[in-house]
Amino acid sequence: LNYQVPRTRKEIFETLVKGLQRLEYRGYDSAGVAVDGTHLTTTDTKSIAICLIKKKGKVKALDEELYKRDSLDLDEKLYTHFGLAHTRWATHGEPSAVNSHPQRSDKNNEFVVIHNGIITNYKELKEYLILKGYEFESETDTEVIPKLIKYVYDNRENDNITFSTLVERVTKQLEGAFALVFKSRHFPGDAVSTRRGSPLLIGVRSEHELATENIPVQYNSAHLKDGVQEKNSHNRPDSSSISSVGDSRAVEYYFASDASAIIEHTNKVLYLEDDDIAVVTDGKLSIHRLNRQAGEDPVRAIQTLQMEMQQIMKGNFDAFMQKEIFEQPESVVNTMRGRICFDTNTVILGGLKDHLKEIKRCRRLMMIGCGTSFHAAVATRQILEEQTELPVMVELASDFLDRNTPVFRDDVCFFISQSGETADTLMALRYCKERGALTVGITNTVGSSICRETDCGVHINAGPEIGVASTKAYTSQFVALIMFALMMSEDRLSLQKRRLEIINGLRVLPELINKVLSLDEKIKAIANELYQQRSLLVMGRGFNYATCLEGALKIKEITYMHSEGILAGELKHGPLALIDKDMPVIMIIMKDACYVKCQNALQQVTARAGRPIILCSQDDPEVSKNAYQTIELPHIVDCLQGILSVIPLQLLSFHLAVLRGYDVDCPRNLAKSVTVE
Ligand code: G6P
Repeated sequence: LNYQVPRTRKEIFETLVKGLQRLEYRGYDSAGVAVDGTHLTTTDTKSIAICLIKKKGKVKALDEELYKRDSLDLDEKLYTHFGLAHTRWATHGEPSAVNSHPQRSDKNNEFVVIHNGIITNYKELKEYLILKGYEFESETDTEVIPKLIKYVYDNRENDNITFSTLVERVTKQLEGAFALVFKSRHFPGDAVSTRRGSPLLIGVRSEHELATENIPVQYNSAHLKDGVQEKNSHNRPDSSSISSVGDSRAVEYYFASDASAIIEHTNKVLYLEDDDIAVVTDGKLSIHRLNRQAGEDPVRAIQTLQMEMQQIMKGNFDAFMQKEIFEQPESVVNTMRGRICFDTNTVILGGLKDHLKEIKRCRRLMMIGCGTSFHAAVATRQILEEQTELPVMVELASDFLDRNTPVFRDDVCFFISQSGETADTLMALRYCKERGALTVGITNTVGSSICRETDCGVHINAGPEIGVASTKAYTSQFVALIMFALMMSEDRLSLQKRRLEIINGLRVLPELINKVLSLDEKIKAIANELYQQRSLLVMGRGFNYATCLEGALKIKEITYMHSEGILAGELKHGPLALIDKDMPVIMIIMKDACYVKCQNALQQVTARAGRPIILCSQDDPEVSKNAYQTIELPHIVDCLQGILSVIPLQLLSFHLAVLRGYDVDCPRNLAKSVTVE
């Protein structure tokens, strides 16, 4: 939405498409935009036709489609304009133009809506609306929303009804998770948005900022409440506050599910909370609650994001994933920065220090996450048990909920999530909160739902991760959890020797990661030998078991090969049947407490004519002589070895995917941030 600074329609298209491209990692099977067309009649300036353009495929396909419309004057200057854009990852209904968003109320596009999330009661609503004579065209759950708002509009009691009242009435009928933005031909220039369970933020750019790029937007300081904003926002950037802006200065507003879509326009953002209704009308933004109590005025902090544009650009790399793999020497340093003092061997996680006493008194630690984030919990479980002397459970969020796992007030539950938005993890968080446990977030996204809803937490500070297959977030989650273990053992005399060994390991970690990255050419050559295979097993145990799971996940995600991470201790209980001279096997055999047991597994594999590729310690002739190929890794303390051993598998999956001709950053059927259960 833009006020007072004219934009051509072409510029509007460019802004919308660019924003979508930045969000493409969230979903990319179809995309669409809605923009103002022409006034319906020359006398009726209150009603402007909405032009919908939608296309199956990537955003690029939509971009090309936009310029094919002869009816739209691309050079027309518009002083006020509200455009919508959405990129979809199918949940209900196959990828197609008609199922993509914006979804509309009717053939005249009276109301159009974009939606992230899922409407769980859409079937009942759809049946009701069909009975009332509304015709549906898509297979989506979303379509009930524009139909419902039209139903409310068609049955309005008077003509003074506001756009925001219509949206409120619709929202009250919806169950599930959603972030919604509405546009209507009956309210040209007005935008209404709301959320429940799915992220939504508003970027605010002032007139002065448009001119000088550095004057902060005006805010209403009367609404600043001491302490309220810091409570749930560990390490948040500086914040001011807002309940309404725009009355005295012209501004441009951006509604988005993720800051990366708008960061090139403004770094001033505010995050909406569940059941906030945000309205822009006559150039003024206001926010109110869905079920407003008398006198209640929400306060939403305007934050200044520190994210740099170049941070989210690909640089000289072919893919974001590759860039992110090579960023790991720096990203692990960023995770440790200001938290470890190598002179005094102290570790302080600012977001947890006030809760440390409570954590130390707890009954058990629970580590909950999905996918790669779950693997970070598996990777650090042993050292957490050792350094905290507490029982540690690691849980996949979906399974944890399926089992209705007992949770107690004296449990401490960690929610590990790169995006901070994964629906399964978020649900598990709410489940634990209801049961009174202390909740801790380990996230990479400032302002994300998990970060805001947990009692305390740690930002891993790995920087934006764009590739769908997580790499640097994994190693940073790993480091963050290790730091937590070290913080817990600071006053345990018997653990000091071990603690020191780990701190020394962290000190040299970045340079050792660099050494592992220098094996890239060798790994590429191995990928050349393997890329036509259908299957790939990854085997190990102890501190390296998580590497097997994570390596196999990377291979599955981006190469579409079948891959399995196998606990070497389980080899003889089943997987051994898979071994023959043709089955590619990667084995991780490091000089740690499991070394002898891993060698036994190696014997079992070679005795069946298996030809293992072995990740091993440098100078290990014993293991090397039984290997088909070796990848030699530098030595580091056992509990950090998993950080070094996962990198060759990240690189291998990358090269395999390239050789197989796949889009590394956007694997089929997967999305970076899964905000549906
Ligand atoms: C999705 C992604 C995975 C990721 C998982 C958890 O499934 O495709 O790569 O590991 O979500 O994501 P989170 O943001 O919670 O770490």
